[in-house]
Amino acid sequence: MKLMKIMARFRNIKPSFVFRLLQLKNCTITTEEKFLETWWRLVREDRMILTLRESYNIYHYLTATLPLGGAIAELGVYKGGGAKLISEFKAERPLHLFDTFQGMPTVDRKVDQHHEGDFADTSLGKVQEYLREYTNCFFHKGFFPDSAGDLPENTEFCFVHLDADIYESTLSGLKYFYPRLQTGGVIISHDYYSQTCPGVKRAFDEYFRDTPEEFIHLWDTQCMVKKRE
Ligand SMILES: C[S@@+](CC[C@H](N)C(=O)[O-])C[C@H]1O[C@@H](n2cnc3c(N)ncnc32)[C@H](O)[C@@H]1O
Repeated sequence: MKLMKIMARFRNIKPSFVFRLLQLKNCTITTEEKFLETWWRLVREDRMILTLRESYNIYHYLTATLPLGGAIAELGVYKGGGAKLISEFKAERPLHLFDTFQGMPTVDRKVDQHHEGDFADTSLGKVQEYLREYTNCFFHKGFFPDSAGDLPENTEFCFVHLDADIYESTLSGLKYFYPRLQTGGVIISHDYYSQTCPGVKRAFDEYFRDTPEEFIHLWDTQCMVKKRE
């Protein structure tokens, strides 16, 4: 987050410098021009709070799972940085975006470090305007999972980005999306390894405790689970 802010301040910084800084000089990521161009543009727009590696993970698994068919979702949209990244690569696929668009709901202070009302400096109108050029983006404003009530029960998803930061919301996200994930579909969650979001790890560990599913830690803070048969 701090690195993003510093980079956003130095708007003329060269991508090759960033690759050196992040030790990515010889990695495949440096050849993904459309992804890099998009990510860089979002950083300059000051909306992107995901790191380069986290954004690449989303791009990679989103594009890998599109052929499975089904919808895409993001729980935790805030100002729309991640949603715009997804929109750039989702083609015409429906993207369901869930947020209060007025800040964090009630948190469990025994687990979560965030406070009710954090991330309130956004609005549905601003995010809709930010994503206006993309088709098939559906906004579900309100408390999740109640806000999913307007979706047909049998909606299936190929890719889901969870970025809700807190325990109850992440657990609700897993309970709602995992059973509706296509076989081979992927859920990526932000903040599994964030020091400021211990509730995310708690929710994943709890949800998958008694299942054979394995979720994988992805650098920088994410984890990912792929639905088996
Ligand atoms: C870290 S922000 C999301 C960042 C966003 N993915 C991005 O790329 O900029 C977390 C968001 O989760 C939302 N959120 C958390 N729990 C929620 C719930 N149960 N229902 C709706 N929104 C929720 C908050 O309102 C906040 O906007």
